[in-house]
Amino acid sequence: MNIEARVLQGDCLDVLKQFDDQSFDLIVTSPPYADRRKSTYGGIHPAQYVEWFLERSAQFLRVLKPSGSFVLNIKEKSENGERHTYVIELILALRKQGWLWVEEYIWHKRNCYPGKWPNRFRDAWERCLHFTKSKKFKMNQEAVMVPMGDWAKTRLRKLGKNDVVRFNSQVGSGFGKNIANWHNRSMAYPTNVLTFATECANKGHPAAFPKALPEWFIKLFTDPGDWVLDPFVGSGTTLEAALALGRSAVGIDIMPEYCALAQQAVTTQCLTMCANFAATELNHERHQVWHRRLARADCGRLHL
Ligand SMILES: C[S@@+](CC[C@H](N)C(=O)[O-])C[C@H]1O[C@@H](n2cnc3c(N)ncnc32)[C@H](O)[C@@H]1O
Repeated sequence: MNIEARVLQGDCLDVLKQFDDQSFDLIVTSPPYADRRKSTYGGIHPAQYVEWFLERSAQFLRVLKPSGSFVLNIKEKSENGERHTYVIELILALRKQGWLWVEEYIWHKRNCYPGKWPNRFRDAWERCLHFTKSKKFKMNQEAVMVPMGDWAKTRLRKLGKNDVVRFNSQVGSGFGKNIANWHNRSMAYPTNVLTFATECANKGHPAAFPKALPEWFIKLFTDPGDWVLDPFVGSGTTLEAALALGRSAVGIDIMPEYCALAQQAVTTQCLTMCANFAATELNHERHQVWHRRLARADCGRLHL
């Protein structure tokens, strides 16, 4: 299987026009937040944000496959004592544009920014909004299962009479549970709250997300060999995660210096993967293959 990662410079609105309809299986991205980072890559005024975004998301809709997913990591700022509503307005506008708003995952930041405000507490979460083009989309739920943990051992040691049959909710919600179903299972499905530590230090980018974030969604919504797009790629985190998981990827950024960072991240990831192959394939014949891989790794391409 051949995989590759490409970094393209420009406004994603223009760059995406060179791609065919239905080119990508997943779009995972963190766009510039309204009015943030004015000194680095500009900031769109909250009042213009929805209009600005919709022009670009029309392209995202076009290049995404019908079975694909679009994950948007975003958080509204707080202004004049209240949260801005542009993200809520954006969700409604994206639905009008033709997207289905399937889910809202919460990225819980284990090491959120310290501080104190008179009207609120430290901001420890961001939205990861999940949109699709149709109700039937690719979702590999088994790929993100988590260990059951110790609660299962204690909870399942002594099963009561309500645990071995389906026990319907006593408040009449229609929900039910059968605890015995979890007996002898070591893995469970995760919740929609994802806990990752922030990783901005040493990345050379002021707003990089942790690699674990795109990684989780790539595992969940794509298969090996699929194509991932990050239209606001920054330091290239999504491209690194995609390559490491055996997916091809395209990253776009308007700033030449961030494209250079992303290209560097791609090359480093490819070389690391080549070195790992080499460590496991030490006979001479495989060594030749490794040399050919290494030559291609420099340009972001790998043969797995
Ligand atoms: C929040 S950062 C993304 C950070 C990235 N997730 C990472 O881990 O490094 C948003 C990026 O969007 C880029 N950007 C802003 N406007 C853009 C546009 N119209 N087209 C493409 N990239 C843009 C900025 O230069 C910035 O690097």
